[in-house]
This record gives sequence, C-alpha cells and structure tokens, in this order.
Amino acid sequence: MTIDEKVRKTLAELGVADAAGVDALFAEVHAAIDSERSGLVSSGAPSESERDQMCKALRDRWLARKNGLLTQIDEHWLKASAKELRPSVGRSFNTLRQTAATLEVELLRNEVHVTQAQYLKLDASLVRPSSDAQHMKFAVDLIQSPDLTLPGNRRPLGTLHPVTQMQREIEDIFFSLGFRIESGPEIESTYYNFDALNIPESHPSRDDWDTLYIDTKTVLRTHTSPVQIRAMEKYGAPLHIIIPGKCYRHDNPDASHSPMFHQIEGLAIASDITFADLKGTLDFFAKKLFGEKIRTRFQPSFFPFTEPSGEVSISCIFCGGDGCRVCKESGWIEVMGCGMVHPQVLRNGGIDPEKYAGWAFGLGIDRFAMMKYDINDIQLFFQSDVRFLQQF
Ligand code: PHE
Repeated sequence: MTIDEKVRKTLAELGVADAAGVDALFAEVHAAIDSERSGLVSSGAPSESERDQMCKALRDRWLARKNGLLTQIDEHWLKASAKELRPSVGRSFNTLRQTAATLEVELLRNEVHVTQAQYLKLDASLVRPSSDAQHMKFAVDLIQSPDLTLPGNRRPLGTLHPVTQMQREIEDIFFSLGFRIESGPEIESTYYNFDALNIPESHPSRDDWDTLYIDTKTVLRTHTSPVQIRAMEKYGAPLHIIIPGKCYRHDNPDASHSPMFHQIEGLAIASDITFADLKGTLDFFAKKLFGEKIRTRFQPSFFPFTEPSGEVSISCIFCGGDGCRVCKESGWIEVMGCGMVHPQVLRNGGIDPEKYAGWAFGLGIDRFAMMKYDINDIQLFFQSDVRFLQQF
C-alpha cells in the first residue's frame, strides 16, 4: 500500500492499534518526505521553470489545504483516532507538521537543502542554490573538505645543526665517564659571572672578557663558568658535571669571532681529586673525539678561578703534528683552558676546600666543530644558509 493509499484509511482500517504502530506509520511518512525531497534535488538538470513546477507539485501534494497528504492525515488518522491513541497520534502529527513547515519554506524559496555528500555527487548547476548565503555555504564546505587526491606538501628533512652535533658528541664522551648535564641562565648577574669566580670588580682580569652589560649588575654571561658556582650551591660535593650553553662577548664578528658562541664547561669535585685526573680525563676525551693518535699538551696559563691553570693543546688533527697552515707550523692546536678549582671559588660555592678539591675546563664548541669539519669561518654556523647546513 502506498502512502497515498494509507492516508485515506483510518488507523483502525490500517490495523494500527497501539503507540508503537503509530510511530512506525509516521516513520514511513517521514521517509516518504525525505525521499521525495532528495528526488527533487537529484532529478537531472531542470530548467528554472521546470524546477519551479516540481517544487509547486511537491508542495501541493503534501501541503495543499484541501487535499494535501498532511490534511488527510489530520482527517483520517488524528481526528478519527480512538481515544487511547489520540495522545501518541497527536505527538507524531505535531512533529510531522514541523517537518512539513520546513519543507514548505524550502520549497517556497526554491531552496531545498541537500547534504554535502549529495551535493558533491551532483553537478553544481543542478542544485542552483538560490541564495547567496547557501551558495557561500556550499563553497565553504567544498573548500574545507580535504581533497585526498592532492599530493601532500613535501618538507625537506632537516638535520641537527653542526654545532649541536658537535655538542652531542662531546656530551656523549663525558656521559660515558659519569658526568651529567647542568645548565644556567644566559642573562647572568655580575656576581656569578665574575665575583664568585674570584674576578673582583676593578681587577684587570675582568677586561679579559669583553662583556655585554644589561645593567651594572647584569650581563650576558661571557662564559659557562658561572654555572660552576650555581651547581656547587645546588648540589654540593662531590660533583661531576658538564655545562653546555651559549655565551656572549662584545666581539666584532669575523672569521674566528662571533658575539654569540658556545662553550662546554666541565667540573669535577671530589675528596681525592688531583691535576693528574684532569690530565687523564682530557687526554681520554681528546683521543675519543679525534682518534687514538692524538696527543695532548698542557701549558701553564692564568685564570682567576683556577690555580694552577693550564692551556690544553692537541696535536694538529690536520698534519698529525708535522706542521701545517692550520697549526701555523707548530704541530699543536690550542683547544681549551683548564685548571684546579681555586679554593676561594670552592668556598664561594659553599664547599670546604680542606675536604674537597676540584678541576674544571672550558672549551668552545664552535671551534671544535670548525676543526672537525675543517671550516674556516665561524660565521657560517650562524647565517642559516641551507646550502651550508645541508652538508652536515
Ligand atoms: N671560562 C674560561 C673562559 O671562558 C675557560 C675556563 C673554564 C678556564 C674552566 C678554566 C677552567 O675562557
């Protein structure tokens, strides 16, 4: 029996005797409306007048005052229903009326809504959205729906910066010896950067660090050594740490200078530590990094925070020590400063120099990377030129 036939019969004639039956019957009506409405949307490419006609036909069929399907449902199902069924028929009929009202508005405006899925299947001209707003909505939906057939954006795979690679390599060697990483602020107080390191104000050695001041008591740290004090305060002794990080100096950029550069500081504090441990550790480190053939050389030097202080050179990695352009024919390349931690510095960090001794070193990561990769201009590291960086 079609819907048209059903609406001419009463519920009793249709054999509907309970609320569940009523619900099922109205569900059929809703399904019929839906299918007729989408039939309208997908019915070929009607001309404007054809389309108007189709809308009008649908409207008449369902909504005509006199003989529309809705009116018949009202007459035969609602008004003629048995008393017990009246409430559930009434409820269902109200819902149906709302659906019908929506359909009416759509039809009057000639603006039948379709789902986006339906729309995508249709030639856009068939739908002929009648309002700008609807057109806009369709357009936006289309743009927002991803086109899975488009090729993806390929981003070239990056690599770690050569300075970072060098840093990690150095870190790994010290990790293997039981050191851990510590870090501190790049904006540092003059106390940690200088005073606590035994570099009093007005002492000429302060000039060894071309300092960038933020105010009279604050600097961009000129080395990683201030973290020595911070770590002593934080952890006490014994202590085995390395401190990688950025440092800043008031240097004009040239092939071997950059106002920002990288250091790794090493600090070991223990009760029975000597200069021999320092020598052994740094020799081990140099051989791990540059190969077993590398030799190290320690020469006296001066730093206010170490006593005695030393300068470490390694046998030239380019000529093996015979003498070349890089080592200026000396066979040696100077690579870092080091020394036994000055007792006053231990005291400043809250450690008793009668009980503990320590050694420290500081090296420039950028310079190590330059040696390792045979790069003759430090500026190349910081210019972000992909043609350069790609090579690592
Ligand atoms: N901080 C020193 C510098 O920047 C290097 C250094 C560190 C020397 C630790 C000795 C001990 O020049």
